[in-house]
Amino acid sequence: MTNNNIYFIANWKMYGNTKDIEKTKPIIRLSKSKKYKKVKIVYCPPYTLLKDFFIKIKKTRISVGAQNCHQNFNFGPFTGSINTKLIKSTGAKYIIIGHSESRNDGDNDQDINKKINAALKENLKIIFCIGEKLKEKKKNKTFSVLKKQIKNGLKGIKKFDNIIIAYEPVWSIGTGLIPKNFELKKNINIIKKIIGSLNKYNKIKIIYGGSVNPENIKELSKISEIDGFIIGGASTNPKKFIDIIKKSIN
Ligand code: PGA
Repeated sequence: MTNNNIYFIANWKMYGNTKDIEKTKPIIRLSKSKKYKKVKIVYCPPYTLLKDFFIKIKKTRISVGAQNCHQNFNFGPFTGSINTKLIKSTGAKYIIIGHSESRNDGDNDQDINKKINAALKENLKIIFCIGEKLKEKKKNKTFSVLKKQIKNGLKGIKKFDNIIIAYEPVWSIGTGLIPKNFELKKNINIIKKIIGSLNKYNKIKIIYGGSVNPENIKELSKISEIDGFIIGGASTNPKKFIDIIKKSIN
């Protein structure tokens, strides 16, 4: 893993109630230790818990992020939706955009581009998720899928400083399967190349997501190009989450 800031994004998906906020306690303790100074932990709970999480972590080095947003930057008649202004008002600093589960719910590349723009306007840090499906991988389409997702998602955007790319092969999310290290390295380098071709930006942070757990983290951390991880299931279990962080730093 890189020696820069190492991201551990806890994507809680549609899980958690107010009592579960207590699960942050051991993580807060860990984040105070000097050894983990470079670690950046971001909790992304459901919208309903953003404010409560923020209150809990306010005086720590941990941040809070949302998992999605409405594409409209301005307020408007969008029943059931939340825009980036509302997200920002909870204290959240980060936002996940383009997760495969949100794409599955209907988000296309154009919607994602609008959401990224809306998040940039609110100065939120974006975790922009991309990744190929199993059938695309089997047909050797990974490169073209990643290129299309990146080009369309970042269309018209000039500054990438607030953008982190989360490479999450769809076939790896929640399945227990992870790519082989050489495959992951190759795809991360592909992403870097695509980003570089867009605006010669070579400092983009790239994190990996998909079935990260205490058993596979040692192997995944060997990849020097990775700047961190986005963790779903395992991040809701504080023991596992701590184990993941500890094993990737040691
Ligand atoms: P997982 O989810 O760790 O449960 O596979 C990762 C994600 O969806 O971001």
